[in-house]
Amino acid sequence: MEPSPIKVEGLNHSYGKGELKKQILFDVAVEIRRGEIVIVTGPSGSGKTTMLTLVGALRSAQEGSVKILGHELLNAKPATLEKVRRQIGFIFQQHNLLGALSALQNVELGIRGSGRYPRHEHRERAMNMLNAVGLGERIHHKPEALSGGQRQRVAIARALVSEPAMLLADEPTASLDKESGREVVERMKLLAREHGTTILLVTHDNRILDIADRIVHLEDGCLTTFTDAVIANNRHMMEMLADNRQKQPVGELVEQLDETQFRDLLQDITEESERFLETTALANNLAFKSMLDQGLVAFTSKLAGLLHAERSSLFLVDGDELVLKVADNLDEIGEIRIPVGSGIAGAAAMSGETIRIDDAYADPRFNREVDKKTGYRTRSIISLPVKNLEGEVFAVAQLLNRKDGEPFDANDEARFSEFIQSIGVIFETQLGLADAGR
Ligand SMILES: Nc1ncnc2c1ncn2[C@@H]1O[C@H](COP(=O)(O)OP(=O)(O)OP(=O)(O)O)[C@@H](O)[C@H]1O
Ligand SMILES: [Mg+2]
Repeated sequence: MEPSPIKVEGLNHSYGKGELKKQILFDVAVEIRRGEIVIVTGPSGSGKTTMLTLVGALRSAQEGSVKILGHELLNAKPATLEKVRRQIGFIFQQHNLLGALSALQNVELGIRGSGRYPRHEHRERAMNMLNAVGLGERIHHKPEALSGGQRQRVAIARALVSEPAMLLADEPTASLDKESGREVVERMKLLAREHGTTILLVTHDNRILDIADRIVHLEDGCLTTFTDAVIANNRHMMEMLADNRQKQPVGELVEQLDETQFRDLLQDITEESERFLETTALANNLAFKSMLDQGLVAFTSKLAGLLHAERSSLFLVDGDELVLKVADNLDEIGEIRIPVGSGIAGAAAMSGETIRIDDAYADPRFNREVDKKTGYRTRSIISLPVKNLEGEVFAVAQLLNRKDGEPFDANDEARFSEFIQSIGVIFETQLGLADAGR
C-alpha cells in the first residue's frame, strides 16, 4: 500500500518559554490516506490551527513525528519544509488574495508558487480552474468587486490550480452564508476527488460536516477516543437508516455488514447522537430516541447473528431493575421490568456471570409466561452480562435457541466476549446517551 500522505505520531507542541511555556498539543496521532477528506472539529483554543500549521510545514515540529508526503518534518531542514509547502494548497479563513491583482492573476500566482508547470501554461490552467469554481465570467475582477463567497472561491482556485497533493483549509466557510459555504465545500470536494487530493479541513460549521470521510475531534490539545472512528458518509448513513426503517428492519441491514462495517455503523450512530444532543439540546426528541434505539437493536441483532440464535433480546439495568429494551416481538410482550436477581437475566445481572441453560423448561428460574403469550417455544438460553469499564453490569443480552438445535456452548461465550471487547466502549457511550435522553 502506498504510504499515507499525512502520518502524525506522538506530536506534542508548546508555545512560549520558561515559566510562560504552555503545552497546546498532547500526544496527537492521526493518519490520513490519499484522497481522504478529514474534518477537524473542536472548541476554540483547542489547538486546531496549531495542528494544521504543523502538518502544513508552516511551523516547526518540536516533539514526535510529523510525516508529510514522505518527508519527516521533525528537525527537517528549511529546504525540506519549503519543498513540502510547495505541494500543499492552503485556504485560510481570510482569503489572503492580493487586492491589486485580478482573480485570474491571483490564481496564476498559485501556479507560479508551485513551480510545477511551464510558464506558458499558467494562464490557461488558471482560467480552467476559475471556470471550474464557477467564476469564468469574473476572471478580470479584483477581489474588492467580488462577494465574500466569490473571493473564497478564488482562494480555492488558487489553492487547487497546481493540483496539490494536499489541501489544508482553516475555517474556509466561516465568513460565508449558508448557501455559498455549501457551494464552496462541494466544489472543494469535487475538485479534490478528481485530483486525488488529501484534504484536512478545520471547521466549526456543522452544516458541512457531511462532506468528510472522517471527523476527528480535538479537545484541550488531545484527539478524543472517537478520532480514529471511520465516519464514512456519516449523514448519508443516518438518512439511509432513517429511510430504511420502514422498508427493511435494522436487523436485516446489520446482517449484511461485516465486523468492521458494523463497528463503524455503531460508532456513526453514537457520534451522530452526541452531535444531535450537543446541537439541539432536545434530549427528549423522538428522532433522537429512535436513533439510540436503532443502535441497541443493531447491537442485539448482530449478536444474535454471531451466535446463530433464533431470538434475541436486550435488557438495560435501571437501578435495581432490568428493563426489556429490545426484543423480536416487543409489541406483543409489552413492558417488562424484572428485579435484578430474579429470573435468568436477573441472575446474570446480579452475578456478572454468563448463564447457559440447555433446557429452559427444566430450570426453575425460567418464566414460561412469555412463551405462553407469544406462542414461542424456548429450548436453550444464553444470558450475557454486558459490563462497563468499571466492571459493573449495565445490560444483559439474552439469546434463545441456537439455530442448529444444539445448546449454546463455551465457543459462543468466547465469541461474545470478543465481540463485546471490540465495541464495548462505544456501546457504553450509547447507553450513557440513552440515560441522558430518558
Ligand atoms: N503563536 C502563538 N503563541 C502563543 N500562543 C499561541 C500562539 N498561537 C496559538 N496560541 C495559543 O494556543 C492555543 C491553541 O490555539 P489554536 O489557534 O491552535 O486554537 P484553535 O483550535 O485553532 O482555536 P480557534 O477555533 O479559535 O481558531 C490557544 O490557547 C492560543 O491562545
Ligand atoms: Mg484556529
